Amino acid sequence: MTRVLVTGAGGFIGHHLVSYLRARGYWVRGVDIKLPEYTPSSAHEFLLLDLRYWENCLAATEGIDEVYALAANMGGIGFIETNKAVIVRDNTLINMHSIEAARVNHVRRFLYTSSACIYPGYLQKSPEVTALREADAYPADPEDGYGWEKLYMERTCRHYTEDFGLETRTVRFHNIYGPLGTYDGGGEKSPAAICRKIALAAEDDVIEVWGDGEQTRSYCYIDDCVEGIYRLMRSDYREPLNLGRDELVSINGLVDIVAGIAGKRISKRYDLGKPQGVRGRNSDNTLLREVLGWEPGIALADGLRPTYEWIDEQVCSPAAASSASA
Ligand SMILES: NC(=O)c1ccc[n+]([C@@H]2O[C@H](COP(=O)([O-])OP(=O)(O)OC[C@H]3O[C@@H](n4cnc5c(N)ncnc54)[C@H](O)[C@@H]3O)[C@@H](O)[C@H]2O)c1
Repeated sequence: MTRVLVTGAGGFIGHHLVSYLRARGYWVRGVDIKLPEYTPSSAHEFLLLDLRYWENCLAATEGIDEVYALAANMGGIGFIETNKAVIVRDNTLINMHSIEAARVNHVRRFLYTSSACIYPGYLQKSPEVTALREADAYPADPEDGYGWEKLYMERTCRHYTEDFGLETRTVRFHNIYGPLGTYDGGGEKSPAAICRKIALAAEDDVIEVWGDGEQTRSYCYIDDCVEGIYRLMRSDYREPLNLGRDELVSINGLVDIVAGIAGKRISKRYDLGKPQGVRGRNSDNTLLREVLGWEPGIALADGLRPTYEWIDEQVCSPAAASSASA
């Protein structure tokens, strides 16, 4: 039985990935500094370890054949724009120690989870975006802090392959969403934040939108995400690869879809002082289709329905109501 490690297994994508890999017959060790928040992990073994420390990375990778490296200190746009030093410090420590421990422990494959935040700001100034191809990463001008750190780790993976023969895979996620993701507290991304605001809104309420709502994004549902991660790990492709949908939507459009799912009439109030990130961003999936013979197929409206229903249940359940009033 192949033994795999998922780091960040207490987080959103890691938690889903553990279930996916276990269902495929792998022996799975999950590692995180926290347990999953909403449902128990299905990992065979779950270790609570702080992966900023070398000894913990050695323990995490011991006896492991393949590593899915997802652990990172990150959050929504509000968090990553205001915590650059903490993000760069923590993620550099986690990543360098994780890959070096994988090498020392003779891990066969190491998959690193990068981000669309590595793409240059100068290509993302207009809401009428040109979808981002992998080759567009250079000349580099990534998101300050978080994006630079991701790009540096992408290059580290390439060096470990070239110099040490460690098989690495690098995936660039474009806005992953779905049930069991953070939906409040600042760590949440736009789909979860909008689902929460609309779940808490009454008919004809107004919700706050960050920016003017015309900024555009593409969003990829979690089931497609874990499928894509797995397919990339199994492939022989060593360069960074996009993993996203190429269905572009504005934040205003996203609000309208969620309001439709909720069956509520909702208006928007714009807060131009709040962080909005880049003006427009989409994934070009040409290379993804070529390399994996596959691409994410779950439409935004289809993925948002279970996401909204889950968040609605969290914020509107009697337990949530009593903890809010306590
Ligand atoms: N969700 C997205 O849309 C998205 C987009 C681009 C890239 N990514 C990347 O994918 C990976 C997973 O993202 P996610 O959405 O599941 O985020 P998440 O925050 O839910 O999961 C990350 C996990 O890493 C853990 N972690 C943080 N510091 C740690 C430490 N010192 N030791 C051990 N564990 C630690 C956290 O506790 C958390 O459970 C991250 O590397 C993230 O940067 C995610």
